[in-house]
Amino acid sequence: MSKTTAMNEELASIAGLPEFSAQCLPGHFYTSAEYFAYEVEKFLSKEWHCLGRADEVARPGDYFTTTLLNEPLLVVRGDDQRIRVLSNVCRHRGMPLAEGSGSTRRFVCSYHAWSYNRDGKLANAPRMRDKGVTPDTCRLPEFRSEIWNGFIYVNLDDDALPLAPKLQRLEHLLQNYQTAEMRIVHVVEEEWRTNWKCLVENFMEAYHLSIVHPETLHPYTPTGLSRKSMSDDAFTSYCANYPDDIPSRGSGAPTLTEEERKRSTLFCLFPAQVASQAASLLVSFSLQPVAVDLIRVRWTMSTFGDELTKDEIDQRIALWNEVNREDREKLEKMQKALGSRHAPSGPLAPKDYEGTIWDFYRYLARKVAPPPVMKLAAGIGA
Ligand code: FES
Ligand SMILES: [Fe+2]
Repeated sequence: MSKTTAMNEELASIAGLPEFSAQCLPGHFYTSAEYFAYEVEKFLSKEWHCLGRADEVARPGDYFTTTLLNEPLLVVRGDDQRIRVLSNVCRHRGMPLAEGSGSTRRFVCSYHAWSYNRDGKLANAPRMRDKGVTPDTCRLPEFRSEIWNGFIYVNLDDDALPLAPKLQRLEHLLQNYQTAEMRIVHVVEEEWRTNWKCLVENFMEAYHLSIVHPETLHPYTPTGLSRKSMSDDAFTSYCANYPDDIPSRGSGAPTLTEEERKRSTLFCLFPAQVASQAASLLVSFSLQPVAVDLIRVRWTMSTFGDELTKDEIDQRIALWNEVNREDREKLEKMQKALGSRHAPSGPLAPKDYEGTIWDFYRYLARKVAPPPVMKLAAGIGA
């Protein structure tokens, strides 16, 4: 039996445990380069990934670049107002066309000056007319993309099923926040030396909040008040409830209930978007796996209307930078220890604190192994 097959069986048996006896995945799921390559091929390259927020490219010609699973991407709003996710690789000899973010009428390659319109169509290729390179024959390839609740998603698989129909329950969870109306105030892209699953799990469990973040998060979202919330095949979530005696953090959308104003709703849209939605603040992390022990984290902060002052926004950014520093220090140390032959498969905490991790394992197991009913059908047909 191959190592990957053996690990898939191990994953299936752990994901099959009942919730009250749930266990962690052992260390090699986070440190095996072979298994990471398998995850990329088997499902990461076929799933929908959040890239950022639609209002990062608010006007025609606005763009940003990023990279997902080795694909250089160019996210740009066209003259028709449509946001496209294009290949950021020149069709001549492969130079990246744009870097960072900005706004432009045309993308001009820095190598031999081929230029492209905002919809990816070639505009001009100097001295190439006799070679048959024309706007009718040449354009930047476009990837499948969708906008949902103001987030931009891409799928590198042309045959993927649409995303939005899978998100009805998550839509229900978020609807009162008016997530689509949140306005971008901050974008960061950074590298963390951890396995992508470790950051998903860390972001989605409340068990560590009061320990790792005693001064930053504990006063607002102590571990003890956290409660598991909705989940289904596409996502998991929990509510980080605020104590009664803390000052309001802004009232957000008029549609919110008082309970919703007094908590942050944290969700993971499988596989690799994690986000915290509060009344007046939305923070979303797009995790871009690079290697078994390395991820690029592109995170955005958005606010509701103009409720927060510039100073308050700066304070929230500083707070999140500190929270990230606290988490990152733990995850980067743990990544090294997970290579130990004694890395454990310890018990998960009760569901309000680590039940989201159990949901995540079940998602992973669905992705790598066909459901039993399909095996049975294959058996009957054989
Ligand atoms: S590589 Fe872009 S014009 Fe040559
Ligand atoms: Fe944390």
